[in-house]
Amino acid sequence: MGGTADIGVVGLGVMGRSLALNIAGHGFTVAAFDRDRDQGARLSTAAAARTGQTGPIVPASDLSGFVDSLKRPRAILLMVPAGQPVDDGLQALLPLLARDDAVIDGGNSHYRDTMRRAAAMAERGLLFVGLGVSGGEAGALTGPSLMAGGPRAAYQRVEPILTTIAARTEGRICLAWLGSDGAGHFVKTVHNGIEYADMQAIAEIYGLMRAAGMAAAAMAAIFARWNQGELESFLIEITADILTRKDEATGRPMVELIQDRAQQKGTGQWASVAALELGVPAPAIAEAVFARTLSARKAERVAAAGVLGGAAVKLPTGEGFLADLHDAMLTARLASYAQGLALIDAARRAHEWQTDLSTIGTIWQGGCIIRARLLDAVRAAYGRDPDLPNLLMADEVRPRLLKALPGLGRVVALAASHGVPVPLLASSLAYVEGYRTAELPANLIQAQRDYFGAHTIERTDRPGSIHLDWAGLPK
Ligand code: 6PG
Repeated sequence: MGGTADIGVVGLGVMGRSLALNIAGHGFTVAAFDRDRDQGARLSTAAAARTGQTGPIVPASDLSGFVDSLKRPRAILLMVPAGQPVDDGLQALLPLLARDDAVIDGGNSHYRDTMRRAAAMAERGLLFVGLGVSGGEAGALTGPSLMAGGPRAAYQRVEPILTTIAARTEGRICLAWLGSDGAGHFVKTVHNGIEYADMQAIAEIYGLMRAAGMAAAAMAAIFARWNQGELESFLIEITADILTRKDEATGRPMVELIQDRAQQKGTGQWASVAALELGVPAPAIAEAVFARTLSARKAERVAAAGVLGGAAVKLPTGEGFLADLHDAMLTARLASYAQGLALIDAARRAHEWQTDLSTIGTIWQGGCIIRARLLDAVRAAYGRDPDLPNLLMADEVRPRLLKALPGLGRVVALAASHGVPVPLLASSLAYVEGYRTAELPANLIQAQRDYFGAHTIERTDRPGSIHLDWAGLPK
């Protein structure tokens, strides 16, 4: 005998609680459980106040009562921190579940953990969905972007609920099934990698504006203007907002009072490691991670500035400085999309996921942190050609890229000649230039490898691999 709740949520932290409220607000009955028993009761009261109905969220005082309160076959959304807590949660649930019950992990889990868990659950006749959820608290409450992976049957079970809570943009829904086991969490990880790159690009542009002596209010006006055009996006929008905020006590822009040490929880690192493992060039994503780690070494940087003399010159700006910054941002964004999509493309081939790259353009266009007008190009480009080798080659992207690239080049040159660090912008320039270079100097690397390690070379004028006797070593 089953219960009456449509879905259960385990873990009522910020994200679990917000998703539970969102689901309950759409007419579903939600069973709720947290180790902290008071959380469920508080949430139930909040849901009643929000919906004007009693009982959309039914708090449970123990896990077995929680499981019993669910309709069968059951659907349980696990919203606990990634890592061991997910395994612990599954371990606690397993004895209480029955064949065909489905567990959905909505945390930022590593996709390999999701693959492992999906296999272990399948062995027991249970269904497991790895669900990437983006949009933070506000998104979870009012419409997140949802990236699902797992058995199709499991996804279909929860699709009606997820459909009602996901973000919508221009009539499209920001929810999709992206393939079996780890596909959803992989796509979420790459989303975060792109998020890191986009944030780093914006921060570098802000750094250049600051080096040019611009006041925060003037910068805010520029970002707000950019947000009306091609660069329209959540991250540009909030940057404009952040730059207008003043500290009440000092009257100074709040941003100037914040320590320049960026933290991270690891998803950018996972995306970079996946790129290295899959042999996909994704330097912008990795560079954004390294830039955060460098920023975190504040004391070391301060000491080095004293010894090595970091530049503090005012950046000379001329006609076109702001237009070049705009184009640098645009190019960097395109480069990070290209790298992220190439990474997903490689992963879907390696793991035989049925991921549709065009759909990714759609589900990232609303609800999530990287939502941006430019993602239109991703949807259109991969919709026309699912086997596009690289986004930069697409008709929707190529003309914009070629128009904006010189601006990025001028910005990087200006920064380099005045000692302003722009690792992400410089890396994006190198990526685009490298990608469009037919003859790279890697022939010399092959010669060196063959010289010291007999690793062989391939000649341009003959087939096959050969080793040359470079040093005339005695045989
Ligand atoms: C999202 C965000 C979300 C979270 C990251 C931040 O899509 O809603 O990416 O997942 O903000 O965990 O990551 P860092 O702490 O590593 O910056």
